Amino acid sequence: MRLSPLLLFPGIFVCALFPLTNGEEQRIPEEKLLVVTVATKETDGFKRFFHSAKHFNYTVKVLGEGAKWNSGDYMSAPGGGQKVRLLKAALEEMKDEDKIILFIDSYDVVFASGPKELLKKFQQARHKVVFSSESLIWPDRHLEDKHPHVAEGNRFLGSGGFIGYLPNIKEMVADWTGEDNDSDQLFFTKIYIDPVERKSTNITLDSKCRLFQNLHGALDEVVLKFEDGRVRARNMLYDTLPVVIHGNGPTKLQINYLGNYIPDTWTFETGCTVCHEDLHPLSALQESEYPLVVFGIFIQQPTPFVAVFFERLLKLQYPKNRLKLFIYNQEAHHEGQISSFLKDHGSLYQDVKLVGPEEEMDQAASRNLGLDMCRKDKDCDYFFILDIEVVLENENTLKILIEQNLPIVAPMITRVGRLWSNFWGALSADGYYARSEDYVDIVQGRRVGVWNVPYVSSVYLVKASLLRSELSDYELFTSNLLDPDMAYCHNIRSKGIFMYVTNMHTFGHILSTENYQTSHLHNDLWQIFENPVDWQERYIHENYTRIMKDKLIETPCPDVYWFPIFSDVACNHIVEEMEHNGRWSGGANTDKRIQGGYENVPTIDIHMNQINFEKEWQKFLLDYIAPITEKMYPGYYTKCSSPLNFVVRYKPDEQPLLVPHHDASTFTINVALNSKDVDYQGGGCRFLRYDCSVQAPRKGWTLLHPGRLTHYHEGLPTTAGVRYIAVSFVDP
Ligand SMILES: *[C@@H]1O[C@H](CO)[C@@H](O)[C@H](O)[C@H]1NC(C)=O
Ligand SMILES: *[C@@H]1O[C@H](CO)[C@@H](O)[C@H](O)[C@H]1NC(C)=O
Ligand SMILES: *[C@@H]1O[C@H](CO)[C@@H](O)[C@H](O)[C@H]1NC(C)=O
Ligand SMILES: *[C@@H]1O[C@H](CO)[C@@H](O)[C@H](O)[C@H]1NC(C)=O
Repeated sequence: MRLSPLLLFPGIFVCALFPLTNGEEQRIPEEKLLVVTVATKETDGFKRFFHSAKHFNYTVKVLGEGAKWNSGDYMSAPGGGQKVRLLKAALEEMKDEDKIILFIDSYDVVFASGPKELLKKFQQARHKVVFSSESLIWPDRHLEDKHPHVAEGNRFLGSGGFIGYLPNIKEMVADWTGEDNDSDQLFFTKIYIDPVERKSTNITLDSKCRLFQNLHGALDEVVLKFEDGRVRARNMLYDTLPVVIHGNGPTKLQINYLGNYIPDTWTFETGCTVCHEDLHPLSALQESEYPLVVFGIFIQQPTPFVAVFFERLLKLQYPKNRLKLFIYNQEAHHEGQISSFLKDHGSLYQDVKLVGPEEEMDQAASRNLGLDMCRKDKDCDYFFILDIEVVLENENTLKILIEQNLPIVAPMITRVGRLWSNFWGALSADGYYARSEDYVDIVQGRRVGVWNVPYVSSVYLVKASLLRSELSDYELFTSNLLDPDMAYCHNIRSKGIFMYVTNMHTFGHILSTENYQTSHLHNDLWQIFENPVDWQERYIHENYTRIMKDKLIETPCPDVYWFPIFSDVACNHIVEEMEHNGRWSGGANTDKRIQGGYENVPTIDIHMNQINFEKEWQKFLLDYIAPITEKMYPGYYTKCSSPLNFVVRYKPDEQPLLVPHHDASTFTINVALNSKDVDYQGGGCRFLRYDCSVQAPRKGWTLLHPGRLTHYHEGLPTTAGVRYIAVSFVDP
């Protein structure tokens, strides 16, 4: 039998005097409110809670810091008796009888509003203690009938959050004698369902979630409302704006999701503000003091543009002597590129470890090994994982990620033209991809910020301190059921560690590795269909995109246009590919083509179809030449059907020149593939009718001129070295 609270705590009598003035209750001053929580560890969830409390100016008392958590895995329940024990002990020390105690969980809780609103709603509940409510009964379903009915809303008690006057709460927990692993929820439920105790402690439930929103069983009721650049979680069923949001039970991912937006951690304009309080600026450091990063590069399939990958790696803005490379290469095909990179630049890095295909290591094993290289290295501050198919365009990526100072953070990477990214916004019930409500907005950059997400892959930064504590398990990537990346993220989530993705900068994209042939000398040339953006960047002249805008097209002779089209690399690759093929066909031997009526004057050449480059070359003509012909010769719309595409070789002792002729084409393009005075002497092209020559061809520049009739022309003699040109006869 309990004593009446009035007898036990005379102080409450005093405070009962002031609330009523003119029938209206006096507001409880905010400084009377104390938030009490139990946190034995500063988990990422706790830090988020604390940020939100600080944001709204709550005063928080944390119990159990550094204590061993005795109530089972905090990720799973029941348990919680330890919380009641610690609360009871803490309250015994407190004397201020009109204090209001808000006791809540913290690992999976965020505040959505401040003390003023909380206290107002508490007062409106007209009870001395208000508990959060749940629609599901737990842990003892047999107690259902004993619960009083409520007019509207949830009928069951949730122990993850309650608020009340100090004396009433003291009284409520005074009888606690349970073990640390006993259920706190059952303990409070038993008080609540006992009519006498319910009355004497003066307990009610917040059935309509005006103060507390437990998400378990209520996910369909809760939505985010965006208004005036601010966000608030709303319970749609009861039309309420809860102050405390609790991702209880299996709703950890949903509270992570909501935590991206509340409280005001995110705005349309500035992205995540809370994360920014903890920035770790590198600008204050000397380069020699930069964190040491083990940089894990993983090559798990034949991949285009690997040479470009290493060029970008060299340009990454970070002191190389603060980087240790761990390169795992599963593909013999790429060994040459890697060894030439390491031969030329390996010594710039503080250390290099290469694991080659001969080790026959699987994906999970190689990633476990890379991570362990950082874990075991006492100097390692971060592990940076980068898959070879990632095109990291932003040279500052590593610095930006380090400055975020987050446990695990990925730069957002997308696939050009597709709704693909290296993060997932949500998980399906079986742990695979599910689209979150905000996924498309984030991928397309309409919402910008740093986002807590359940899955990242391909490129991300991990704090080494985690690898030596929570993530000390060697086999993080290993699983019988899951792919290595999924296994890894599953392990991270189960430790309560947060993974973030940032889209506050653009970082880059990912290549398609499908349809990558490895049968050529320069396989990347064939990537114009699969990876057109990367193909353009590698092979099209850097000034091509400006030729119209900046009037870069020259007219050396009447109706002859001259403009940059190929990069140096494209020229070199095409020439090398032809020489690699080597089947130069010459002069009189090309009877068939002469009879075909196209090639009036035979040359020493190799046709694009001889290296299986015909489709790709046609695509190149269509994408890069057709737009120019249409502009320069208005009225000619060309599909760039071009049956003759070939590379010509001029050599003094082979075929030095081409006698005057017409081309059997509407237009001809003629691209110089190497450099006068460097690779050869002489050369050029002369248009006889106008007595006009282009005598100093520029490497990578093309001539575009009418073929039939007007433009009778000749190839001027190459007097030394070897000259190469690529020629196409283009018809409409
Ligand atoms: C918290 O307190 C500070 C300083 O007293 C004040 O500037 C700020 O507006 C308060 N924040 C909120 C959300 O009330
Ligand atoms: C609970 O306390 C309120 C005042 O906060 C009072 O009006 C109400 O009558 C009390 N209820 C019970 C059942 O004692
Ligand atoms: C709870 O803890 C006690 C003592 O620490 C132990 O004997 C008991 O087996 C535990 N119960 C459960 C369900 O783990
Ligand atoms: C592109 O144009 C700029 C100036 O307009 C010039 O400096 C640069 O060398 C050009 N690039 C190449 C590859 O010729």
